[in-house]
Amino acid sequence: MEFGAFKNRVMTSFHLDLNSYKEKQLKRRLDSYLGRLKIADYGELFNRMTVNRRSYEEFLDYLTINVSEFFRDPQRFNELQRVFIPGLANGKNQINVWSAACSNGSEPYSVAIIMEELGLSGRSKITATDIDRQILNKAEHAVYPRESLKNVSPDRLGRFFDRVGESFALKDAIKRKVAFKQHDLLAGEYDKHYDLILCRNVTIYFTKEAQEIIYRRFNSSLNNGGILFIGGSEMIFNYKELGYEKLSTCFYKKTAD
Ligand SMILES: C[S@@+](CC[C@H](N)C(=O)[O-])C[C@H]1O[C@@H](n2cnc3c(N)ncnc32)[C@H](O)[C@@H]1O
Repeated sequence: MEFGAFKNRVMTSFHLDLNSYKEKQLKRRLDSYLGRLKIADYGELFNRMTVNRRSYEEFLDYLTINVSEFFRDPQRFNELQRVFIPGLANGKNQINVWSAACSNGSEPYSVAIIMEELGLSGRSKITATDIDRQILNKAEHAVYPRESLKNVSPDRLGRFFDRVGESFALKDAIKRKVAFKQHDLLAGEYDKHYDLILCRNVTIYFTKEAQEIIYRRFNSSLNNGGILFIGGSEMIFNYKELGYEKLSTCFYKKTAD
């Protein structure tokens, strides 16, 4: 089976839009997956996935790059804590946060820690989503190796984590602040009325067209004045056209509808 036919059949059978991922990167990753399974043909992979749902989940888990860590880009998270969250909280009863493509949970839990430190835990609702069910299971488990925590200060480590052997388990008080669910940014419905959306280090894998659709949809999901927080290596060039004002590196504010 050709690569193009594989992508189309995956779309029809699994509603996974591989055409919205950057082609070269996707093909390289897929070819290395075939090598790993020691199969030569996309057709065989497709057949395996249709026969056994678990094969599809394993494929998805391999395809999606799940690298993440707490307070990724510490300077930006600092700014989020010092400037943007207090600004959003001002005069509001509830702050709604969406961590889209949250991977192993490091990102939404970092926000939950910030909320706790700012005394805003009781007034915030954090939803975290990812396409990959297997990584969401890890996120819900919330036990992390030291590498994920290199930006976590000793103070925070002591206050919010329990040591379990070589790993660190997030305390329940923070764990229960985040609700996880499976969601595909390229296909799912987008909820509304968010004050803060984090979507970091995932749109780099998507085509320009798909990126633009996603940023437009986030705009509709944000309340007026709500903030979109993107990754350090990402940039929204036509932000004005998409309904945003640029606040600083990585932060864009929704202008009024
Ligand atoms: C590199 S991680 C980024 C994690 C976190 N946002 C961060 O910056 O540390 C990318 C995540 O995007 C998820 N992902 C890939 N395609 C997706 C899609 N179509 N919809 C939702 N999540 C997706 C992957 O499963 C992966 O967990």
